[in-house]
Amino acid sequence: MQTDRREWQYCCITKERNRVLCLSGVIPTKWRHKFIIFCGYVLLLIERIMEQGQSIFVGNIKGGVGKSTISAFLFDYFRIRFAERSIQMLDTDRQGTAFELLEPLSKEGEVRHVPVSDRFDGLSLVTVDSILRRMRAEENSLTIVDTGAGWPGNVWQIAMMCECIIIPTSLSWADLRPTLEFVREMDERKEGDMTVTPHLIVVPNRISPAQRDLSLLSKHLEGLNVVLAPTLSDLSLVRQMSSNYRGLKGAEGTRFYNEFIRLGDFIIDYVLSGKLSAMFKDEIT
Ligand SMILES: Nc1ncnc2c1ncn2[C@@H]1O[C@H](COP(=O)(O)OP(=O)(O)O)[C@@H](O)[C@H]1O
Ligand SMILES: [Mg+2]
Repeated sequence: MQTDRREWQYCCITKERNRVLCLSGVIPTKWRHKFIIFCGYVLLLIERIMEQGQSIFVGNIKGGVGKSTISAFLFDYFRIRFAERSIQMLDTDRQGTAFELLEPLSKEGEVRHVPVSDRFDGLSLVTVDSILRRMRAEENSLTIVDTGAGWPGNVWQIAMMCECIIIPTSLSWADLRPTLEFVREMDERKEGDMTVTPHLIVVPNRISPAQRDLSLLSKHLEGLNVVLAPTLSDLSLVRQMSSNYRGLKGAEGTRFYNEFIRLGDFIIDYVLSGKLSAMFKDEIT
């Protein structure tokens, strides 16, 4: 009797992780597809088990919208809120603003500066990729990744590893136009990868009391898979803190402080808890 077995080799490339798994062996043809699917599941399971930490990417192609400021305050917020977790900052911007703000107040190794240029820079990207993977592999860790202005180039791959992308913007058209371009690009990449994460969280920042109507911003975001986060006010004290950062404590008693706590709570309740992922998955199925 002729057997249905023949030698074969299959390369399964996980698109998201760019890892290659080569399998070879003698498998009956009728089982081949089931075996390939099974291997895919095992691979994803291994990656999930290895990634016990979480990460938050802060990005926007527009500079000066508050990426580093929000990164630094988020770092402080989580450090206070999660005393038992390892909170880390990875600053990939050449300017290193978040690193400079936080370094004097942090323990060694908590805050790292690994600059990646917006031109193709394979070496730095591989370095950031492996550092973030190592950080995420640490049990219960939470890493905030601050990034520079300009198109993310290959840095978007780092963003795709994270639970969410925090996208600050003011309501001025000069900030809003590039922000919308960035949101559309990231939304398309997610769609291409058929993934619900990273969640795109737009944070209206530097909002004056006269500007509290966000209906125009919501209108521009219609049809995109984004979430509008609680608003942050423009506070001169925050600007002054660029030279003397004292963390959230330095802003206590201000409107900005209360708003920032609300933003942090929102990220915990919806993103880190997995609630937002469950909501998006429900919508897809
Ligand atoms: N909510 C805010 N209120 C007042 N000033 C702010 C606020 N957010 C950011 N800034 C100021 O805006 C400037 C640009 O912020 P920054 O965080 O460096 O932007 P980015 O990292 O996007 O380039 C800084 O001087 C910062 O102090
Ligand atoms: Mg910055």
